[in-house]
Amino acid sequence: MKVLVIGSGGREHALCWKINKSPRVSKIYCAPGNGGTGEIAENIDIGVEEIDKLLDFALKNNIDLTVVGPELPLALGIVDKFQEKGLKIFGVNKACAKLESSKDFSKKFMEKYNIPTAKYKTYTDLNEAMEGLKDFSYPLVIKADGLCAGKGVTICNNKDEAVDTLKDILEKKVFGQEGDKVVIEEFLDGIEASLLCFVTRDKIIPMESAKDYKKIFDNDLGPNTGGVGCFSPSPLFTEELKVRIERDILEKVKYGLSKEGMDFRGILFIGLMIVDGEPKVLEFNVRFGDPETEVLMPRLDVDIVDLFIKTIDGSLTEGDLKWKEESSLTVIITSKGYPGQYEKGLEITGIEKLDKDIILFHNGTKYEGNKLLTNGGRVLSLTALGSNLEEARNKVYSNIDKINFKDMYYRKDIGKLI
Ligand code: AMP
Ligand code: GLY
Repeated sequence: MKVLVIGSGGREHALCWKINKSPRVSKIYCAPGNGGTGEIAENIDIGVEEIDKLLDFALKNNIDLTVVGPELPLALGIVDKFQEKGLKIFGVNKACAKLESSKDFSKKFMEKYNIPTAKYKTYTDLNEAMEGLKDFSYPLVIKADGLCAGKGVTICNNKDEAVDTLKDILEKKVFGQEGDKVVIEEFLDGIEASLLCFVTRDKIIPMESAKDYKKIFDNDLGPNTGGVGCFSPSPLFTEELKVRIERDILEKVKYGLSKEGMDFRGILFIGLMIVDGEPKVLEFNVRFGDPETEVLMPRLDVDIVDLFIKTIDGSLTEGDLKWKEESSLTVIITSKGYPGQYEKGLEITGIEKLDKDIILFHNGTKYEGNKLLTNGGRVLSLTALGSNLEEARNKVYSNIDKINFKDMYYRKDIGKLI
């Protein structure tokens, strides 16, 4: 089989790495890919939003299966377009992608089907939104409705911050039309966890849980990022919690999708906040997470291509997913300044010195000749499996300083602070 993976981050490198282990696969392409994907796949210089070019490439190169990493092409309807041409593609259609591409749509869905989530209200008018603030206590959360590359959520500690945020979104249009609507939301105080599920027809099959670290600095300080460290499984996921999630969330989502006539086939990534043992949904994503994928792929103990095909044809069952008992942990090395401005093109050295059992995923790198250069805010993910979390953690942290580039940065408390 020839497989095309769309995207250029650590998630896509981890997907290529796992797909490459499938005996069914003879060739992998990655568009546009990065330095790491280029070692196992052929990188193709087409951007993730260039749907017609991707379609043309898949048709001309007889691609048997396309796997979509990021949300943008899903929201642009890549799956619908590939399917119209009879191509096999793993990902959700445009209608289902709205669960991620519109926070208002997603909250309405949760409200309609009684899925536990933060109380909210949606506004398009600045004055009405400012008036609406009085219905919430502080801190509160303000979210631009659309896709904002992880920057659309602001936690506001007082009215001044809330008014500024509303003005930024609705008046100054800092997110363009993605901010035509805002959602004001109750702040949930708890512990976050990520639960990714394969969804097909009438089945929602959860993967193992993961814990993502979103803040840039140790002790969960500083601004939010896409995620700078992760481990799996999360110790929060007791049998009791799993039963509650199944009953209070998954069953209701399944019912809602069917009622709405949404033919959801792909990944549903549920961002959870566990508040005093009670699971609440922070958000839905409709794709694999980054860095969740970097910790889940090494633990997945079956051929992922089978899972993709069975999700597409609707035959996937719970028994198809098998996981290694081991824990896995990843720490992401970032460029100085991330998630704000940062330099690119810095030479990276030392990757050949890593122990054999470190799995290195590239997030933002590129090769220029033999030189490996930084090419993003998140640069490299060092991942290890261990018989427990502590062992996985020790393996990663005893290797990480073998890597070097100017002003590289990483959190020291991944897997420690839970
Ligand atoms: P989202 O994109 O909606 O997941 O929001 C990004 C991050 O903002 C989440 O991972 C949380 O850390 C935080 N967040 C979002 N909504 C809330 C909320 N209602 N209460 C507390 N934190 C939130
Ligand atoms: N790690 C969070 C995300 O992929 O959205």
